[in-house]
Amino acid sequence: MAPGPSPEEAEVVLEVNGTTRRLSAPAGMTLLDLLRDRLGLTGTKKGCDRGECGACTVHVDGLRINSCLALAAQHHGRSVTTIEGLGGPDGEHPVQQAFVAHDALQCGFCTPGQIMSATACIREGHADSEDEIREWMSGNICRCAAYPQIVSAIAAARTRTECTSA
Ligand code: FES
Ligand code: FES
Repeated sequence: MAPGPSPEEAEVVLEVNGTTRRLSAPAGMTLLDLLRDRLGLTGTKKGCDRGECGACTVHVDGLRINSCLALAAQHHGRSVTTIEGLGGPDGEHPVQQAFVAHDALQCGFCTPGQIMSATACIREGHADSEDEIREWMSGNICRCAAYPQIVSAIAAARTRTECTSA
């Protein structure tokens, strides 16, 4: 019989990008570390690791969260979408396409978090003006200060999609 999780570990079942994943993880492991270190989904970035930069943004049950502030075990049974699940070279999400078209990145470190947050922002109905986009994207920091292009990309993406998926 396979050994169960140690008392310090918790069994966590998540649907990640449409696939059910069953893992044993330390009770204190963040969702961010589980995604990156246990599942190899390194598209989600670790910036500040304390809820200040937004680089680690993912969707849980369709809502954006900072995964560095979330314990993986707390999200047992939930559905997680990362940038890898949003779209890729074989089928980019309209927000990803807009970021490319508007040159809305420089080093690219913040970009996965920006795109995950932007997708949710549009879906929430908080992207009706550039001022509104700036306000509702204020939790995502870009050290390269690509903000004008990011705002333009989100405004353009809003007109192209209702972002009802992912
Ligand atoms: Fe999570 Fe900065 S790494 S908010
Ligand atoms: Fe470099 Fe945003 S593109 S941090």
